[in-house]
This record gives sequence, C-alpha cells and structure tokens, in this order.
Amino acid sequence: VEPVVETDVLIVGSGPAGASAALALSTYGVPNIVVTRYASLADTPRAHITNQRTMEVLRDLGVEQEVVAQATPQHLMGNTTFCTSLAGEELGRVRSWGNDPLVQAAHDLASPTRMCDMPQHLMEPVLVDAAVARGTHLRFSTVYKSFVQDADGVTVTVEDRLRGDEYTIRAKYLIGADGGRSKVAEDAGLPMGGQMGVAGSINIVFDADLSKYTAHRPSTLYWVLAPGATVGGIGAGLVRNVRPWNEWMIVWGYDVTAGAPDLTTEYAESIVRRLVGDDEIPVTIKSSSAWTVNEMYAETYSNGRVFCAGDATHRHPPSNGLGSNTSVQDAYNLAWKLKLVLDGSASPKLLDTYTAERAPVGRQIVTRANKSIGETAPIFEALDGLSPQSPEQLWANIAARKDATEAAEKQRARLREAIAFKVYEFNAHGVDLNQRYASDAVVPDGTEDPGFERDPELYHQPSSRPGAKLPHAWITAGDRTLSTLDAAGQGRFTLFTGIGGDCWVRAAEAAGLDIATAVVGPGQQYEDPYGDWARLSEVSDSGALLVRPDGYVAFRYATAAGDAEELLGAAVRRILGHG
Ligand code: FDA
Repeated sequence: VEPVVETDVLIVGSGPAGASAALALSTYGVPNIVVTRYASLADTPRAHITNQRTMEVLRDLGVEQEVVAQATPQHLMGNTTFCTSLAGEELGRVRSWGNDPLVQAAHDLASPTRMCDMPQHLMEPVLVDAAVARGTHLRFSTVYKSFVQDADGVTVTVEDRLRGDEYTIRAKYLIGADGGRSKVAEDAGLPMGGQMGVAGSINIVFDADLSKYTAHRPSTLYWVLAPGATVGGIGAGLVRNVRPWNEWMIVWGYDVTAGAPDLTTEYAESIVRRLVGDDEIPVTIKSSSAWTVNEMYAETYSNGRVFCAGDATHRHPPSNGLGSNTSVQDAYNLAWKLKLVLDGSASPKLLDTYTAERAPVGRQIVTRANKSIGETAPIFEALDGLSPQSPEQLWANIAARKDATEAAEKQRARLREAIAFKVYEFNAHGVDLNQRYASDAVVPDGTEDPGFERDPELYHQPSSRPGAKLPHAWITAGDRTLSTLDAAGQGRFTLFTGIGGDCWVRAAEAAGLDIATAVVGPGQQYEDPYGDWARLSEVSDSGALLVRPDGYVAFRYATAAGDAEELLGAAVRRILGHG
C-alpha cells in the first residue's frame, strides 16, 4: 500500500518526551506528526518535580509562564517530612528542592528559572497545546504497530482505533517517545542494560482535605515509616501532594514476587487511612494502579533513522524526580539536530551525537534514582525498624527515641543523620544541572577538565568549558534585564563575545550557518552591570563562546584571534558533521 500521509518527523507518544519533541520541532518549523495510543493525554498526576534545567528548556520554548501559572510554587514544595503517618509522630524533615536557604541562593545564581511542581496531567496539555498551535498534527487513539526503514525514510504502520483499521505514515525520521514499555525501542533493537520489575508499587490518587496535617509544613512529599513500608515500593510509604492541600497521591509497595494486590476501592482506602492516620477525614478515591520499579537504560538511543527518547530509553523509580525532566531534555537535545539535518545544514552524523550526549545522562539518572531508594533504609535502621519486625516492635523502637538515655541520644543522632543524608534525593542541585557533554558536537578547547570543587551531585558548578551548559548571568539591554540564556537559544547558534571580539563577530557572519551574535560590554548590545558575566564567561572580553541551540557551549576561545574565521569555521564544520 502506498503511504498516504507524509511528514518530516513522526513522533510516537504524547508524554513529556514526545510532547516536548513536537513542541521544539514545531517551534523550529519542522513538520511533524504525533500519534498517541489513548483518546486523551495523561489522566493521572505521574511525574511532577520540574527542575531548573527543564524550566530553562520550557522558557526557551516559550511556555515557562504557563507552567509557572499552574504549578505548585517552589516555596510550597520543600519540607520533605518523615513521619509515622500524617496525623502521627513526625521523625524529622529535610529542606528540599532548593528550600534550604543556601541551596536557594545556589538556585537563584544558577538559573533565571525556579523549579516547581507541575503534575504530568497539567504539563502535557501545556506542551501539546503549544505544539499544535505551532503546527504539530496530533492523532489521538492511534497506535504505533511497526516500522520499516530504508535509505530515505521510515514507513510506519499505525492502527486507527476509532476506525479499527491500519494505515502507514511515511516520515524522514521516527521518534519513539512511547514510554517505559517502548515498542519502538524494542523494534529498533536498542541494547538495554539493567533490569525491569525490581519492585512492585501502587499509585492511589485521592481527594481529601489534609490541610490540617500539611499546610504548616508545606511539602510535595510526606514519607511514612509504618509497618510494611519496606516491602517493595520506593523505600517507604509516600503521600505526595498533587494540589495543595486537597488532591493527593499515595505510593505504596507490594511484593513483586507475589503479584499486585486486588486494587479495590476498599483496599485503596485502607492504605490511605493507614498513611494518613485519620479514620474520620472524608476521602474520595479517584484511581489506583500498579506499576513496577525498573532499573534500565539504553546503551544506544538510535538505530538508523529511528530515535528514542524519555522512558523508552531510561526506566527508573521516581526518586529524585528525574523522569519527565530527563525526557524533556532528551527531546530538546535531539530536536535542533534533526532540524539542521533536515534543512541540509548538517550532516546526518550530527545525529550520532544524540546517543553520545544523552545515554550517559540516562545511565546516571537510573543509577541515582535507584541509589536513592536504598538510602532510605538507614532511616529504618536508625529505628532498628527493618523487617522482619512486628508492628509493636517498630512502634516501641520509634517511641524509644524519646528516652532520656545515652542509647536514645545515639538513636536520635543516627536518625537525624539518616534523614539529613536524603539531600541526595531531595536537594541534589548538581544532579539537575551538572551534565557535561562529550561528543563530536562539542569542540574541546585544550583546557584540562577542572573537575568539581564540591560534591557534583549536590552542588551545581557553572562552567563555560565546551560541553557545559551556558552559565546564567543577568545582563541588560537598555532598561531590560535578561539572562544570558535568553540571549541564546530560539533554535539558533549564538556567539558570545565582548569588546575587542570583532574578529569573532565577522567569523560568525562568515561561518555559513545562521549564528546570532551577543556582544556584551559597555555601550554594546548587552551590558554586564553586575560583572557576573565577566567572571562566569571564563574568557577575556575579546574571547568567544559558541553556544548551541540547546544552550550548551560548543566552542570556546580565550582571546581574539587573527585566524578567527578559520577557527570558528572549522569548529562549525566539525559540529555539523562536515569536518
Ligand atoms: P510517557 O510514559 O509519559 O509517555 C508515553 C506516551 O507514549 C504516552 O502518550 C502513551 O500513550 C504513548 N504510547 C505508548 N505506546 C504507544 C504506542 N504503541 N502507540 C502510540 N502511542 C503509544 N514519575 C515520577 O517522577 N513520579 C511519579 O509518581 C510517577 N508516576 C507514574 C505513574 C504512572 C502510571 C506512569 C505510567 C508513570 C509514572 N511516572 C512517574 C514516570 C513518568 O511518568 C515518566 O518518567 C515520564 O512520563 C516519561 O515521559 P515519556 O514521555 O518518556 O513517557
């Protein structure tokens, strides 16, 4: 059968990965179609923690304000609480998600954006609406079945669930953003490491006014150490806020070898009562679903003209809140590369850098998320509360921490330490922002990797070294204050230089690619009134930074150069795969 539908990029899936791929491609003017299995977008909260890097991506794609308007703001996210139930005893808290004053300062310094809590069922419509408004064709109730690829494109068979028939779509490239059970990744034969089904977990979404237990210690997450809380799941029972303070989701484990329990409303309500600890408060169960904790990552993200992104390539528990963040960032990494290859500016070799740059990130976040589950155990250990123990014994151990004995003082100290250690899950700014890319789309500048001065998981360290994200500094243009990130992006390469860097401006004009220029200095296009950029750029005023459309530094030169045209030209050719 001859294909009747044609496009440049076919995207399977409308989750965070697929929706942001569509949004970026449509923003860049690349024709694309999204097919998605169901008749609607996500109907449960799912992923929610939205970190600064993702907010930067959304800012560049023009939807930051819509997300901010709907999300729970950062200051209501940060009292991660450990307790015996919401109504029960509190064991301690971790200031989280940038709410520690020192970490908040680091957040303010790192980015023009703030992290927030944006549940997936609210995020997807923002991304998809903007994508469709900019040209994406979206086909609901359309299931990917198979693909065949040749030298010029991919022919994809899909099933129209409304009509009950199949048809083909011919695309130049296919993106599999079809989630943790990706059939595209499977059909593409992407090699995967790790394992699926490590532990069992249940999500229960419910309405209840829990403000009397939560409004005084506002948080996204309340962890419950109760009998049974170490079975399966994600380290302990979890009460997660969806909307302050009336809409909630509980995550509770089950023994994966025994299979998921029967998810009746009675069962769901019994778990809610156990974790909330109040039998009187009115509760309305909205949905329950079982899922498994996975620990898998793809070694390669593409096969020929087929590229996978998001959970299709990395599957891990929600710890650290990395799932949809990484998915959005995968798509953002891929979209500009596809655009430049499709419009003929770049060689298809540029697309190989997608795996080179994103696979190490995927692997890192899968490992980080699973490590975080394990790091909850010391909290139970501090209470001598790991199974097998009777509920009575666990409660007795918890009560014992109040004794005026040396043993109890030691126990209190162990508990404080174990809870404080959870910053690696709840305040890991470096995990969010410290990615460094090494690939052919990054030109080394001969400097030695300075490494990290402090723990790279906890602390963000800005750098302008090629492969790092462009450092954020507030600069001005007349009476307008903007971030250096705002001076870059929007689908274009940007060359930053300053006074004395005319050779670089000329080199950018001669590079044979659409490169924006940002000249920073007194009396220039942008000024640096605080002097932050002078410090963070790590090059002299006459030096140059070439920033990719996704905000990563691709080339750096410390000073003006007599052969700037040749240097920049060679760098651009290399980045575009023509070198
Ligand atoms: P995602 O799974 O979001 O999207 C996949 C898309 O592909 C969907 O639109 C789907 O309909 C579509 N699709 C799949 N197969 C298809 C086919 N053959 N044809 C057409 N379309 C197809 N994370 C977290 O941090 N905290 C949490 O609490 C949760 N909870 C949670 C609950 C449930 C039920 C799920 C499924 C997932 C979570 N997650 C989560 C994980 C989080 O949702 C996940 O990391 C991101 O959504 C990943 O985004 P993707 O776009 O990659 O996949």
